[in-house]
Amino acid sequence: MQTLTAPNAALDCRDLALGRSLYLKLENALLLLNKDEILDLQTDRASDRGDLDGWCRLKGHTLLATLEGEEAHFLIRKNAASSYAQKADWGVTLPRDEEGAIKVGDWLCGATANIEIKAPEYFGLMPRGAAIEAGSPIYPFSLNHKKQIWSRPIAKLYEEAKNAQWNASRDIAWDKLPKLPDFLERAIAQIMTYLAENEFSALYIPGKFISRINPHYMEVVLFLASLINDEARHIEAFVKRAMANGGGLQYSSAVTQRSLYSLFVEEDYLKTSFLLHIMGEGTFLDLLSFLEENAPDEVTKRIVTLAKADEARHVAYGMAHVKANLEHNPYQIRRIKEATHKRKAFLDEMSGESTLLIEALAKVAGGSEGGRSFKAGLEAVDRLKARMNKNRVRRLIEVGIDEKLAIELSAIHTPNFM
Ligand SMILES: [Fe+2]
Ligand SMILES: [Fe+2]
Repeated sequence: MQTLTAPNAALDCRDLALGRSLYLKLENALLLLNKDEILDLQTDRASDRGDLDGWCRLKGHTLLATLEGEEAHFLIRKNAASSYAQKADWGVTLPRDEEGAIKVGDWLCGATANIEIKAPEYFGLMPRGAAIEAGSPIYPFSLNHKKQIWSRPIAKLYEEAKNAQWNASRDIAWDKLPKLPDFLERAIAQIMTYLAENEFSALYIPGKFISRINPHYMEVVLFLASLINDEARHIEAFVKRAMANGGGLQYSSAVTQRSLYSLFVEEDYLKTSFLLHIMGEGTFLDLLSFLEENAPDEVTKRIVTLAKADEARHVAYGMAHVKANLEHNPYQIRRIKEATHKRKAFLDEMSGESTLLIEALAKVAGGSEGGRSFKAGLEAVDRLKARMNKNRVRRLIEVGIDEKLAIELSAIHTPNFM
Protein backbone atom coordinates (compact mmCIF):
# COMPACT_ATOMS: atom_id res chain seq x y z
CA MET A 1 0.00 0.00 0.00
CA GLN A 2 1.26 3.44 -0.95
CA THR A 3 2.27 5.82 1.87
CA LEU A 4 0.63 9.17 1.44
CA THR A 5 2.29 12.43 2.39
CA ALA A 6 0.22 15.30 3.67
CA PRO A 7 -1.48 17.23 0.88
CA ASN A 8 0.15 20.51 -0.19
CA ALA A 9 -3.12 22.27 -0.96
CA ALA A 10 -6.81 21.74 -0.44
CA LEU A 11 -9.78 22.52 -2.64
CA ASP A 12 -13.23 22.51 -1.12
CA CYS A 13 -15.87 21.72 -3.76
CA ARG A 14 -18.59 20.41 -1.49
CA ASP A 15 -21.05 22.89 -2.99
CA LEU A 16 -20.35 21.84 -6.57
CA ALA A 17 -21.54 18.87 -8.58
CA LEU A 18 -19.11 17.26 -11.01
CA GLY A 19 -19.20 19.51 -14.03
CA ARG A 20 -17.64 22.54 -15.69
CA SER A 21 -17.35 24.68 -12.54
CA LEU A 22 -15.69 21.98 -10.47
CA TYR A 23 -13.27 20.98 -13.23
CA LEU A 24 -12.25 24.63 -13.82
CA LYS A 25 -11.41 25.06 -10.15
CA LEU A 26 -9.65 21.72 -10.05
CA GLU A 27 -7.61 22.50 -13.15
CA ASN A 28 -6.43 25.83 -11.72
CA ALA A 29 -5.67 24.40 -8.28
CA LEU A 30 -3.40 21.82 -9.92
CA LEU A 31 -1.90 24.39 -12.30
CA LEU A 32 -0.36 26.28 -9.40
CA LEU A 33 1.12 23.19 -7.72
CA ASN A 34 4.68 21.99 -8.27
CA LYS A 35 5.51 18.54 -9.67
CA ASP A 36 4.69 15.72 -7.20
CA GLU A 37 2.66 17.97 -4.93
CA ILE A 38 -0.67 16.66 -3.77
CA LEU A 39 -4.06 18.33 -3.83
CA ASP A 40 -6.81 17.36 -1.42
CA LEU A 41 -10.08 17.75 -3.30
CA GLN A 42 -13.10 17.62 -1.10
CA THR A 43 -16.58 16.91 -2.45
CA ASP A 44 -19.59 15.41 -0.74
CA ARG A 45 -19.88 12.35 -2.95
CA ALA A 46 -17.66 9.27 -2.85
CA SER A 47 -19.33 8.27 -6.11
CA ASP A 48 -17.35 10.96 -7.95
CA ARG A 49 -14.30 8.70 -7.86
CA GLY A 50 -14.76 7.00 -11.25
CA ASP A 51 -15.19 10.26 -13.18
CA LEU A 52 -12.34 11.96 -11.32
CA ASP A 53 -10.01 9.07 -11.99
CA GLY A 54 -10.78 9.33 -15.71
CA TRP A 55 -10.23 13.07 -15.71
CA CYS A 56 -6.88 12.71 -13.87
CA ARG A 57 -5.64 10.16 -16.39
CA LEU A 58 -6.66 12.41 -19.26
CA LYS A 59 -4.80 15.38 -17.73
CA GLY A 60 -1.72 13.39 -16.70
CA HIS A 61 -2.34 13.54 -12.96
CA THR A 62 -2.73 10.59 -10.60
CA LEU A 63 -5.65 9.97 -8.31
CA LEU A 64 -3.83 8.48 -5.37
CA ALA A 65 -6.54 7.72 -2.89
CA THR A 66 -10.08 8.33 -1.86
CA LEU A 67 -10.56 8.82 1.83
CA GLU A 68 -14.15 8.39 2.66
CA GLY A 69 -15.78 9.59 5.81
CA GLU A 70 -18.36 12.26 6.40
CA GLU A 71 -17.19 13.79 3.14
CA ALA A 72 -15.16 12.43 0.28
CA HIS A 73 -11.51 13.49 0.01
CA PHE A 74 -9.70 12.76 -3.24
CA LEU A 75 -5.92 13.01 -3.16
CA ILE A 76 -4.54 13.96 -6.56
CA ARG A 77 -0.83 14.09 -7.39
CA LYS A 78 0.42 16.51 -10.05
CA ASN A 79 2.87 14.73 -12.33
CA ALA A 80 3.91 17.53 -14.65
CA ALA A 81 6.40 20.33 -13.89
CA SER A 82 4.81 23.59 -12.78
CA SER A 83 4.27 26.25 -15.43
CA TYR A 84 5.05 28.89 -12.84
CA ALA A 85 8.62 29.08 -11.64
CA GLN A 86 7.62 31.25 -8.73
CA LYS A 87 4.56 31.54 -6.53
CA ALA A 88 2.63 34.77 -6.67
CA ASP A 89 2.92 37.07 -3.65
CA TRP A 90 0.20 37.12 -1.04
CA GLY A 91 -0.16 39.17 2.13
CA VAL A 92 1.62 42.18 0.64
CA THR A 93 1.29 45.43 2.53
CA LEU A 94 2.23 48.82 1.18
CA PRO A 95 3.92 51.37 3.42
CA ARG A 96 1.28 53.84 4.58
CA ASP A 97 1.29 57.08 6.48
CA GLU A 98 -0.79 57.78 9.59
CA GLU A 99 -3.84 58.75 7.52
CA GLY A 100 -3.69 55.48 5.62
CA ALA A 101 -2.44 56.99 2.36
CA ILE A 102 0.18 54.97 0.48
CA LYS A 103 3.59 56.52 1.04
CA VAL A 104 5.53 57.79 -1.93
CA GLY A 105 8.98 56.26 -1.94
CA ASP A 106 11.71 55.69 -4.46
CA TRP A 107 9.51 53.18 -6.22
CA LEU A 108 5.79 52.83 -6.77
CA CYS A 109 5.12 49.84 -4.58
CA GLY A 110 7.28 49.33 -1.53
CA ALA A 111 6.55 45.65 -1.22
CA THR A 112 7.60 44.87 -4.76
CA ALA A 113 10.64 47.05 -4.62
CA ASN A 114 13.15 44.30 -5.34
CA ILE A 115 14.43 46.09 -8.39
CA GLU A 116 17.13 44.08 -10.12
CA ILE A 117 20.27 45.67 -11.55
CA LYS A 118 19.51 43.67 -14.67
CA ALA A 119 15.89 42.83 -15.49
CA PRO A 120 15.09 39.10 -15.77
CA GLU A 121 15.05 37.98 -19.38
CA TYR A 122 11.64 36.31 -19.14
CA PHE A 123 10.02 39.57 -18.16
CA GLY A 124 6.94 40.15 -20.27
CA LEU A 125 4.39 42.94 -20.30
CA MET A 126 3.48 42.66 -16.64
CA PRO A 127 4.14 44.54 -13.44
CA ARG A 128 7.26 43.68 -11.45
CA GLY A 129 6.26 41.17 -8.75
CA ALA A 130 3.75 39.17 -10.81
CA ALA A 131 4.50 35.48 -11.48
CA ILE A 132 4.86 34.61 -15.15
CA GLU A 133 3.89 31.35 -16.83
CA ALA A 134 6.58 29.38 -18.67
CA GLY A 135 6.23 29.58 -22.43
CA SER A 136 5.33 33.29 -22.44
CA PRO A 137 7.11 35.19 -25.24
CA ILE A 138 10.36 37.02 -24.57
CA TYR A 139 10.15 40.62 -25.71
CA PRO A 140 13.10 42.27 -27.45
CA PHE A 141 13.54 45.05 -24.87
CA SER A 142 16.91 46.72 -25.25
CA LEU A 143 16.92 48.77 -22.04
CA ASN A 144 17.25 45.96 -19.52
CA HIS A 145 19.68 47.48 -17.04
CA LYS A 146 18.64 49.72 -14.21
CA LYS A 147 21.52 52.11 -14.70
CA GLN A 148 20.55 52.72 -18.34
CA ILE A 149 17.30 54.42 -17.41
CA TRP A 150 16.88 54.90 -13.68
CA SER A 151 16.72 58.28 -12.07
CA ARG A 152 16.69 58.29 -8.28
CA PRO A 153 13.55 60.29 -7.39
CA ILE A 154 11.60 58.71 -10.25
CA ALA A 155 8.51 57.64 -8.28
CA LYS A 156 8.36 61.06 -6.61
CA LEU A 157 8.66 62.79 -9.99
CA TYR A 158 5.83 60.62 -11.28
CA GLU A 159 3.71 61.53 -8.26
CA GLU A 160 4.50 65.19 -8.79
CA ALA A 161 3.56 64.89 -12.46
CA LYS A 162 0.12 63.51 -11.57
CA ASN A 163 -0.53 66.27 -9.07
CA ALA A 164 0.56 68.97 -11.49
CA GLN A 165 -1.67 68.02 -14.42
CA TRP A 166 -3.55 70.94 -15.89
CA ASN A 167 -6.07 71.23 -18.66
CA ALA A 168 -5.36 73.47 -21.63
CA SER A 169 -9.07 73.85 -22.32
CA ARG A 170 -10.25 74.56 -18.79
CA ASP A 171 -7.31 76.13 -16.97
CA ILE A 172 -6.55 78.89 -19.45
CA ALA A 173 -8.86 81.91 -19.51
CA TRP A 174 -9.10 81.98 -23.30
CA ASP A 175 -11.97 84.47 -23.09
CA LYS A 176 -9.65 86.99 -21.40
CA LEU A 177 -7.18 87.13 -24.27
CA PRO A 178 -6.87 90.85 -25.18
CA LYS A 179 -6.65 92.16 -28.72
CA LEU A 180 -2.97 92.77 -29.54
CA PRO A 181 -1.43 94.90 -32.28
CA ASP A 182 -1.00 92.82 -35.44
CA PHE A 183 2.80 92.78 -35.33
CA LEU A 184 2.74 91.46 -31.75
CA GLU A 185 0.07 88.85 -32.42
CA ARG A 186 2.06 87.66 -35.43
CA ALA A 187 5.22 87.44 -33.30
CA ILE A 188 3.41 85.44 -30.61
CA ALA A 189 1.94 83.16 -33.28
CA GLN A 190 5.45 82.57 -34.68
CA ILE A 191 6.82 81.79 -31.23
CA MET A 192 3.94 79.44 -30.44
CA THR A 193 4.49 77.62 -33.74
CA TYR A 194 8.15 77.20 -32.86
CA LEU A 195 7.34 76.01 -29.33
CA ALA A 196 4.84 73.47 -30.62
CA GLU A 197 7.36 72.04 -33.11
CA ASN A 198 9.87 71.53 -30.33
CA GLU A 199 7.21 69.99 -28.13
CA PHE A 200 6.57 67.39 -30.82
CA SER A 201 10.20 66.41 -30.55
CA ALA A 202 9.95 66.16 -26.75
CA LEU A 203 6.90 63.91 -27.17
CA TYR A 204 8.08 61.62 -29.97
CA ILE A 205 11.56 60.92 -28.66
CA PRO A 206 10.66 59.48 -25.23
CA GLY A 207 7.74 57.76 -27.00
CA LYS A 208 10.26 55.99 -29.24
CA PHE A 209 12.16 54.70 -26.22
CA ILE A 210 9.26 53.61 -23.98
CA SER A 211 8.70 50.38 -25.90
CA ARG A 212 12.38 49.51 -25.45
CA ILE A 213 12.33 49.77 -21.66
CA ASN A 214 11.91 46.55 -19.75
CA PRO A 215 8.67 46.89 -17.72
CA HIS A 216 10.58 45.58 -14.71
CA TYR A 217 11.46 49.28 -14.42
CA MET A 218 7.81 50.33 -14.50
CA GLU A 219 8.43 53.58 -12.62
CA VAL A 220 10.46 54.92 -15.56
CA VAL A 221 7.83 53.80 -18.06
CA LEU A 222 5.05 55.48 -16.09
CA PHE A 223 7.05 58.66 -15.57
CA LEU A 224 7.87 58.91 -19.28
CA ALA A 225 4.19 58.33 -20.05
CA SER A 226 3.37 61.30 -17.81
CA LEU A 227 6.05 63.33 -19.58
CA ILE A 228 4.51 62.47 -22.94
CA ASN A 229 1.15 63.57 -21.63
CA ASP A 230 2.72 66.86 -20.51
CA GLU A 231 4.13 67.42 -23.99
CA ALA A 232 0.76 66.62 -25.56
CA ARG A 233 -0.78 69.33 -23.39
CA HIS A 234 1.98 71.79 -24.32
CA ILE A 235 1.42 71.15 -28.02
CA GLU A 236 -2.31 71.69 -27.53
CA ALA A 237 -1.85 74.90 -25.53
CA PHE A 238 0.71 76.45 -27.89
CA VAL A 239 -1.24 75.55 -31.02
CA LYS A 240 -4.42 76.95 -29.48
CA ARG A 241 -2.64 80.15 -28.48
CA ALA A 242 -1.30 80.60 -32.02
CA MET A 243 -4.86 80.53 -33.33
CA ALA A 244 -6.95 81.86 -30.46
CA ASN A 245 -6.56 85.55 -31.15
CA GLY A 246 -7.21 85.85 -34.85
CA GLY A 247 -3.66 84.85 -35.83
CA GLY A 248 -2.70 81.35 -36.95
CA LEU A 249 0.17 78.92 -37.09
CA GLN A 250 3.25 80.42 -38.70
CA TYR A 251 6.50 79.16 -40.24
CA SER A 252 8.52 76.09 -39.39
CA SER A 253 12.15 76.65 -40.38
CA ALA A 254 14.51 74.07 -41.84
CA VAL A 255 17.04 75.00 -39.15
CA THR A 256 14.59 73.99 -36.42
CA GLN A 257 13.54 70.87 -38.28
CA ARG A 258 17.13 69.77 -38.83
CA SER A 259 17.92 70.35 -35.18
CA LEU A 260 14.94 68.27 -34.07
CA TYR A 261 15.73 65.59 -36.63
CA SER A 262 19.29 65.25 -35.31
CA LEU A 263 17.78 64.52 -31.89
CA PHE A 264 15.16 62.17 -33.26
CA VAL A 265 17.65 59.84 -34.97
CA GLU A 266 19.81 59.32 -31.89
CA GLU A 267 19.34 55.69 -30.81
CA ASP A 268 21.31 55.70 -27.57
CA TYR A 269 19.15 56.43 -24.54
CA LEU A 270 21.83 58.06 -22.40
CA LYS A 271 22.89 60.38 -25.22
CA THR A 272 19.25 61.19 -25.95
CA SER A 273 18.49 61.89 -22.32
CA PHE A 274 21.46 64.24 -22.17
CA LEU A 275 20.68 66.06 -25.41
CA LEU A 276 16.90 66.25 -24.91
CA HIS A 277 16.33 66.72 -21.19
CA ILE A 278 19.47 68.60 -20.12
CA MET A 279 20.65 70.50 -23.18
CA GLY A 280 17.29 70.94 -24.92
CA GLU A 281 14.65 71.20 -22.23
CA GLY A 282 17.15 72.85 -19.88
CA THR A 283 17.68 75.60 -22.45
CA PHE A 284 13.94 75.74 -22.97
CA LEU A 285 13.47 76.60 -19.30
CA ASP A 286 15.35 79.85 -19.93
CA LEU A 287 13.37 80.51 -23.07
CA LEU A 288 10.10 80.00 -21.21
CA SER A 289 11.28 82.29 -18.40
CA PHE A 290 12.05 84.93 -21.03
CA LEU A 291 8.56 84.57 -22.49
CA GLU A 292 7.05 84.69 -19.03
CA GLU A 293 8.85 87.98 -18.32
CA ASN A 294 7.97 89.50 -21.69
CA ALA A 295 4.53 88.08 -22.47
CA PRO A 296 2.27 90.85 -23.77
CA ASP A 297 -0.78 89.54 -21.91
CA GLU A 298 -1.66 87.48 -18.85
CA VAL A 299 -3.20 84.59 -20.80
CA THR A 300 -0.05 83.94 -22.83
CA LYS A 301 2.02 84.33 -19.70
CA ARG A 302 -0.09 81.76 -17.86
CA ILE A 303 0.34 79.16 -20.61
CA VAL A 304 4.09 79.60 -20.51
CA THR A 305 4.24 79.47 -16.70
CA LEU A 306 2.29 76.21 -16.60
CA ALA A 307 4.43 74.61 -19.32
CA LYS A 308 7.61 75.72 -17.58
CA ALA A 309 6.68 73.93 -14.35
CA ASP A 310 6.30 70.68 -16.33
CA GLU A 311 9.60 71.24 -18.13
CA ALA A 312 11.44 71.68 -14.84
CA ARG A 313 10.33 68.14 -13.93
CA HIS A 314 11.55 66.76 -17.25
CA VAL A 315 14.92 68.43 -16.75
CA ALA A 316 15.09 67.03 -13.19
CA TYR A 317 14.61 63.50 -14.55
CA GLY A 318 17.32 63.91 -17.19
CA MET A 319 19.75 65.50 -14.74
CA ALA A 320 19.36 62.73 -12.15
CA HIS A 321 19.54 60.05 -14.85
CA VAL A 322 22.69 61.37 -16.50
CA LYS A 323 24.32 62.22 -13.18
CA ALA A 324 23.78 58.68 -11.85
CA ASN A 325 25.25 57.27 -15.06
CA LEU A 326 28.34 59.44 -14.91
CA GLU A 327 28.85 58.65 -11.22
CA HIS A 328 28.62 54.97 -12.02
CA ASN A 329 30.98 55.21 -14.97
CA PRO A 330 32.74 58.56 -15.56
CA TYR A 331 34.07 57.13 -18.83
CA GLN A 332 30.61 57.75 -20.31
CA ILE A 333 31.38 61.47 -20.49
CA ARG A 334 33.21 60.54 -23.68
CA ARG A 335 29.96 59.22 -25.19
CA ILE A 336 28.13 62.40 -24.27
CA LYS A 337 30.87 64.55 -25.75
CA GLU A 338 30.87 62.49 -28.92
CA ALA A 339 27.07 62.79 -29.26
CA THR A 340 27.19 66.58 -28.84
CA HIS A 341 29.95 66.96 -31.44
CA LYS A 342 28.25 64.59 -33.86
CA ARG A 343 25.08 66.66 -33.65
CA LYS A 344 27.03 69.88 -34.13
CA ALA A 345 28.74 68.43 -37.24
CA PHE A 346 25.33 67.52 -38.67
CA LEU A 347 23.88 70.95 -37.96
CA ASP A 348 26.93 72.79 -39.30
CA GLU A 349 25.90 71.87 -42.82
CA MET A 350 23.17 74.45 -42.41
CA SER A 351 24.33 76.68 -39.63
CA GLY A 352 22.44 79.52 -38.08
CA GLU A 353 19.37 80.10 -36.06
CA SER A 354 15.73 80.48 -36.93
CA THR A 355 15.74 84.14 -37.94
CA LEU A 356 11.96 84.35 -37.92
CA LEU A 357 11.96 83.20 -34.31
CA ILE A 358 14.68 85.63 -33.26
CA GLU A 359 12.78 88.55 -34.82
CA ALA A 360 9.57 87.47 -33.12
CA LEU A 361 11.31 87.21 -29.74
CA ALA A 362 12.84 90.67 -30.23
CA LYS A 363 9.43 92.17 -31.06
CA VAL A 364 7.86 90.63 -27.98
CA ALA A 365 10.72 91.71 -25.70
CA GLY A 366 10.92 95.21 -27.19
CA GLY A 367 7.17 95.62 -27.57
CA SER A 368 7.81 97.19 -30.94
CA GLU A 369 8.37 96.21 -34.56
CA GLY A 370 11.00 98.83 -35.25
CA GLY A 371 13.20 101.62 -33.98
CA ARG A 372 14.99 101.74 -30.69
CA SER A 373 12.57 99.49 -28.84
CA PHE A 374 12.99 96.74 -31.41
CA LYS A 375 16.77 97.12 -31.10
CA ALA A 376 16.44 96.86 -27.32
CA GLY A 377 14.33 93.74 -27.82
CA LEU A 378 17.07 92.20 -29.95
CA GLU A 379 19.60 92.97 -27.24
CA ALA A 380 17.32 91.27 -24.72
CA VAL A 381 17.39 88.19 -26.94
CA ASP A 382 21.20 88.34 -26.91
CA ARG A 383 21.11 88.47 -23.12
CA LEU A 384 18.75 85.49 -23.16
CA LYS A 385 21.26 83.50 -25.22
CA ALA A 386 24.01 84.40 -22.75
CA ARG A 387 21.78 83.33 -19.86
CA MET A 388 20.97 80.06 -21.62
CA ASN A 389 24.66 79.38 -22.08
CA LYS A 390 25.49 80.19 -18.47
CA ASN A 391 22.72 77.95 -17.11
CA ARG A 392 23.64 75.15 -19.51
CA VAL A 393 27.20 75.19 -18.24
CA ARG A 394 25.88 75.14 -14.67
CA ARG A 395 23.67 72.13 -15.37
CA LEU A 396 26.50 70.27 -17.07
CA ILE A 397 28.78 70.86 -14.10
CA GLU A 398 25.97 69.73 -11.80
CA VAL A 399 25.74 66.34 -13.51
CA GLY A 400 29.48 65.79 -13.15
CA ILE A 401 31.11 67.28 -16.23
CA ASP A 402 34.23 69.37 -15.58
CA GLU A 403 33.97 73.08 -16.22
CA LYS A 404 36.25 73.21 -19.27
CA LEU A 405 34.27 70.52 -21.09
CA ALA A 406 30.97 72.00 -19.90
CA ILE A 407 31.89 75.31 -21.53
CA GLU A 408 32.94 73.52 -24.71
CA LEU A 409 29.75 71.44 -24.95
CA SER A 410 27.45 74.34 -24.13
CA ALA A 411 29.09 76.50 -26.81
CA ILE A 412 28.34 73.96 -29.55
CA HIS A 413 24.73 73.37 -28.51
CA THR A 414 22.24 73.89 -31.32
CA PRO A 415 21.28 77.53 -32.01
CA ASN A 416 17.73 76.18 -32.24
CA PHE A 417 17.83 75.95 -28.39
CA MET A 418 16.22 72.46 -28.40
FE1 LIG B 1 7.09 70.53 -23.21
FE1 LIG C 1 9.45 68.54 -21.76
